[in-house]
Amino acid sequence: MKAILVTGNNGPDSLELRDVPEPIPAPNEVVVRLQAAGLNFADVRAAQGKYPGGPEAPFIAGREFAGVIESTGERVMGYSQQNAFAEQIASPRNLLFPVPSQWDFEHAAAFPVNYLTAWLAYWKAGLVKDEINDSSPVSPTPRKRVLIHAAAGGVGTAAVQIGRQLGLEMFGTASSQEKISRLRELGLTHPINYKQEDYEERIAEITHGEGVDAVLDGLGGEHTGKSIRCCGFLGRVILFGSATGENPKVNLGSLYIKGTSLHGLWLSKLVSKTELIAAALRSMKPWIESGSIQPQVGAVLPLEQAAEAYRMLLERRNFGKVVLRVD
Ligand SMILES: NC(=O)c1ccc[n+]([C@@H]2O[C@H](COP(=O)([O-])OP(=O)(O)OC[C@H]3O[C@@H](n4cnc5c(N)ncnc54)[C@H](OP(=O)(O)O)[C@@H]3O)[C@@H](O)[C@H]2O)c1
Repeated sequence: MKAILVTGNNGPDSLELRDVPEPIPAPNEVVVRLQAAGLNFADVRAAQGKYPGGPEAPFIAGREFAGVIESTGERVMGYSQQNAFAEQIASPRNLLFPVPSQWDFEHAAAFPVNYLTAWLAYWKAGLVKDEINDSSPVSPTPRKRVLIHAAAGGVGTAAVQIGRQLGLEMFGTASSQEKISRLRELGLTHPINYKQEDYEERIAEITHGEGVDAVLDGLGGEHTGKSIRCCGFLGRVILFGSATGENPKVNLGSLYIKGTSLHGLWLSKLVSKTELIAAALRSMKPWIESGSIQPQVGAVLPLEQAAEAYRMLLERRNFGKVVLRVD
């Protein structure tokens, strides 16, 4: 079968379309014939040899996909650590989820990582509940505020859509006016072009110094310290990535001042919590069925053009998800 192999640590230049053996499923796995696969920032980092704990080259890239189970014909979307940029994948059954009937495979391939990560970030922030493990109601009043970094990205657009369903007042950062306009259309309350204005000052101004209740931080570097300062009393910063390529720069002592807390989130680990993932999917189901949340697919490229897809993410040219079509 055809697959995108990462052959070294040179990012897009290390990707090669190769013929590789078809996967042999383990006893708990089924083979999925892929139709589409979603590209994640983690894939870009992994092809640079910079993904923490990531596989060493050579390996088949890709961590989310949509297709058909060979033995049953079911339409599924799935999550995996690697091996998704290929014609087939062997996947454990518990990491496969049914594709909503109104979605094509390209939208389905854009769902698992972004929406599960965004939902889990809100859960960590105490803004959405896992009905099984948490019986406390999420209070709808007063209206809660969230800051979403890289709001025009994959996780960012998912967080905007979910935040809208949760009735949040949302602040979101992006680097260009085009992204800002599209985010406004998506329902983001306060888009901020951080190349033109300081988001920390702007949030203080709009909230009259009260700050936000939560920050979704996939950037790291100096943004994590700023995120803490954007929080109001008892705010929570959910740290799930370092798209800046830098470790978070944080003065932990600054957490005392407003009782702020800093939470880590890694889907690779949380995905093994089957009940939690089921709760996330149950919580999002009505929004999916009503069409209120729908993965933002910014571009679709054939598998052969994986290198160009990686460059789009590296050069920050994507809005939402870049999807690879597997023909
Ligand atoms: N922990 C987890 O389980 C988990 C799961 C999914 C994603 N993540 C992380 O979440 C972050 C977002 O992932 P994603 O797949 O949704 O990617 P993405 O948002 O589609 O792309 C990253 C965005 O980050 C912004 N950015 C800021 N500084 C950047 C820099 N120096 N280089 C490149 N981009 C920069 C860019 O937006 P602007 O142009 O608007 O600045 C860019 O579009 C990544 O750090 C990723 O590793 C973590």
